[in-house]
Amino acid sequence: MTIDTIRTVAVLGAGTMGNGIAHVFARCGYNVILRDVEENFLTRARDTIANNLDREAKKGKIAEEDRPKILARIHTTTNFSEIARADFAVEAVPERMDLKLSVLREADKLLRPEAILASNTSSISVTTLAAATGRTGRFIGMHFMNPVPVMPLVEVIRALQTSDDTFHTTMALCERLEKKPVAVNDAPGFVSNRVLLPMINEAAFAVMEGVATAEAVDSIMKLGMNHPMGPLELADFIGLDVCVHILDVLHDGFGDSKYRACPLLRKMVAAGWLGRKSGRGFYSYAGTV
Ligand SMILES: NC(=O)c1ccc[n+]([C@@H]2O[C@H](COP(=O)([O-])OP(=O)(O)OC[C@H]3O[C@@H](n4cnc5c(N)ncnc54)[C@H](O)[C@@H]3O)[C@@H](O)[C@H]2O)c1
Repeated sequence: MTIDTIRTVAVLGAGTMGNGIAHVFARCGYNVILRDVEENFLTRARDTIANNLDREAKKGKIAEEDRPKILARIHTTTNFSEIARADFAVEAVPERMDLKLSVLREADKLLRPEAILASNTSSISVTTLAAATGRTGRFIGMHFMNPVPVMPLVEVIRALQTSDDTFHTTMALCERLEKKPVAVNDAPGFVSNRVLLPMINEAAFAVMEGVATAEAVDSIMKLGMNHPMGPLELADFIGLDVCVHILDVLHDGFGDSKYRACPLLRKMVAAGWLGRKSGRGFYSYAGTV
């Protein structure tokens, strides 16, 4: 598959990441087949994309008259077999190995042999996922950042089996999406989470040990290190359950105790304080969720 032969892209999963991925492909002229398991998830995704396009039109990022054209390029379906006509597919289903494997194996059967299959996983080994599909050379990690229409980075992860053609086509595709692809090799947490999560974890330890409040930790990193968000604000945004999960992946993958999740993070997750999405994490979001 070469970059110029890619016209239709399948996006598997229409949640937080899937709707953003569909949005950027459609915005850049690709036909999108957005697939989820229930019609109501697809309706919610369409509404989110329509609202986000509205915001982009008001800011002048897209022309108002392009908004309906972009939406019209997104075909939503619950029927898996419709992805068969895609030239490229991005999987964005929840971060569970069993689910990813079943969706990827099914996609592998449906797609044409030359189509490329990518996963947006944030922590599962892309080499393991590639091995589980029959499409080993044409499998790659494409780690978009949240919110996808806004964040420039795509961390492109080469599985051990990824062919040079697949790699170059995927990098070029990211450029066509007006993103900044950065290539890394497969390793636990890739680079983004391997560097970010130990910082978040250390910030949580500092709070747990009474060294400083969450506000103080975040202020130090914003005012002194020029970070736009403090690590604990960011942890609340990501979800504390997701943070603990990724730390566990790093801990298991490297067998190094430096990745041990902070007990305060585990305790907050046990209490249901998951960050923004639950209304409470290191900060309170009462009335905002
Ligand atoms: N949320 C983030 O900030 C973020 C950032 C980077 C990467 N990721 C990764 O992106 C992936 C998706 O995360 P998310 O936050 O969008 O999850 P989400 O729960 O918001 O969305 C997942 C969607 O997949 C759908 N789904 C479940 N089974 C399916 C199937 N068999 N076929 C098609 N759709 C199915 C669900 O109904 C849901 O709509 C995960 O691998 C996650 O690790 C997430």
